Amino acid sequence: MDVVELLMVDHLSIRLLVRCGLCVREVGEFAAFHDFIVGCHARIEDEVVFPVLREHFSGVDEGFVKLVEWIGNDHKLLDTLAGNVVGYGRSGEREIYEDRLNLYFKLLMEHNLREEAQLFPRWLQELPREARARATEEARKIIMEFGLKKYTEITGLSEEAFKLI
Ligand SMILES: [Fe+2]
Ligand SMILES: [Fe+2]
Repeated sequence: MDVVELLMVDHLSIRLLVRCGLCVREVGEFAAFHDFIVGCHARIEDEVVFPVLREHFSGVDEGFVKLVEWIGNDHKLLDTLAGNVVGYGRSGEREIYEDRLNLYFKLLMEHNLREEAQLFPRWLQELPREARARATEEARKIIMEFGLKKYTEITGLSEEAFKLI
């Protein structure tokens, strides 16, 4: 499976988690969820997919290179917001906590859709097969570093299925 297809499977898992009212309503659970975003999902995008996209389109489509940067900046915003969510959650300010939590997931959903609509199609259609295969291997390493057990617990993908794809 291509790294971007794997990222879209992550997006699907995230969307279903949110749609089901998310288990992630408690601060500890949320912190674990965000740890997956920042330590695995967004890390793959920031360290593997986005740099390859920027390099490939540099000097060819500068507008697209800017778009990759712009969408990538959402990760910093989400990280800041997650810090606030955890802070309010730990201090017991339930109303603000819920409010920031909802804002975090709204932003994340919009961000994921932007990646799917504006970035991923060009990756799948325009990047050479070898570059995509290399990136997929790097992504697998990041997932193993993050911890396959944690990864499968959050995404719902079984370890067996992960090894097959
Ligand atoms: Fe992202
Ligand atoms: Fe993503």
